[in-house]
Amino acid sequence: MNLIFLGAPGAGKGTQSVAVAEILNIPHISTGDIFRYNIKEGTPLGKEADSYISKGQLVPDDLTVSIVVDRLNKDDCKDGFILDGFPRTIYQAEALDKFMASVDKKIDYAVNIQVDEDSLVDRLSKRRFCPACSGTFHVDYTPLTSDDCPTCGAKLIQRKDDTPEVIKERLETYHEKTAPLTDYYSEKGCLLNVEGVPGIEKSLKNTLTALGIEK
Ligand code: AP5
Ligand code: MG
Repeated sequence: MNLIFLGAPGAGKGTQSVAVAEILNIPHISTGDIFRYNIKEGTPLGKEADSYISKGQLVPDDLTVSIVVDRLNKDDCKDGFILDGFPRTIYQAEALDKFMASVDKKIDYAVNIQVDEDSLVDRLSKRRFCPACSGTFHVDYTPLTSDDCPTCGAKLIQRKDDTPEVIKERLETYHEKTAPLTDYYSEKGCLLNVEGVPGIEKSLKNTLTALGIEK
């Protein structure tokens, strides 16, 4: 399956798409993770991306599209993939469609995780993130007994863009640039709206049911 995960910052795109990718045994591709890795490594891409991400703005379209197209051209994407956080603008969605048409494929579903604004802010402010393995936790919903990542043991941090000011900017950017994608995919007949209810397992179950996947 070729899948896209849409939804506001904090909706649970990463949490759910990692789980679905594991079940389907297909690669999980997060543009946010790619940018954060490059920021950590201090690459030129990381420096450029950081200047936008730290302000809650989108990284420019052409740069983002070229990174995703390079990734989708890799062999492991032949039998399907999940894109988490891409596309985020109509321009990116059209570029993705062009790429998919050029390889004679299409996006099967765009999963749109719907969560109310207060819960989004709560989820982002209480998120803990592992800079080593990109593991993502929530202080109320995922059992954490220490500051160490339960998966790899590295020190958990709060993401730099999870401050109240940047969260506000990210939500505004989402409403202006990304929310219109739900109409875009609805018109194509592949939009699946999913309630991102409280509780990671319950929310994941909604997504799996919508996709017709038995766990
Ligand atoms: P990105 O990393 O994609 O961030 P985002 O879209 O803001 O989304 P988040 O990762 O913050 O949230 P999420 O939906 O993945 O939620 P999560 O699963 O972590 O992008 C970062 C930045 O990079 C962007 O702002 C932009 O600058 C740039 N960028 C990225 N892609 C780009 C693109 N295509 N074009 C241009 N720029 C781009 O969950 C959040 C928290 O909630 C966690 O703590 C989790 O444990 C918890 N949680 C999850 N589900 C539930 C649940 N059901 N109940 C309770 N808690 C839950
Ligand atoms: Mg994410």
